[in-house]
Amino acid sequence: MTRLQALKIVNIILALSFFMVSIPGVIQFVTQGAIPYSTFRSIHPIAGTIFTLAGFTHVALNYKWIKVNYFKKKK
Ligand code: HEM
Repeated sequence: MTRLQALKIVNIILALSFFMVSIPGVIQFVTQGAIPYSTFRSIHPIAGTIFTLAGFTHVALNYKWIKVNYFKKKK
């Protein structure tokens, strides 16, 4: 699998897990408990862990780009 093929998959996982963690997270924070706790407890931490791992993988797969664009040597 090429880096770009891996990124296509990781980016979809990143977007979906972001929505699954952030939308209920913000709803729960704003409403202070609109989502039953057992439902929130079974989705949020798992989605959060997947989101975090996908985030690190995304950065690792783009590490070259980050190095070139943020850490290029000044002449
Ligand atoms: C947009 C990002 C996030 C928002 C808005 C958010 C929001 C919240 C809120 C409001 C609670 C408290 C719920 C309650 O006690 O009623 C909570 C709990 C929690 N969050 Fe997040 N969260 C976010 C990201 C994450 C991530 C990335 C993780 C990583 C694993 C995570 C893991 C947890 C865990 C383990 C709890 C405790 C659940 C429990 O009470 O058993 N969250 N979050």
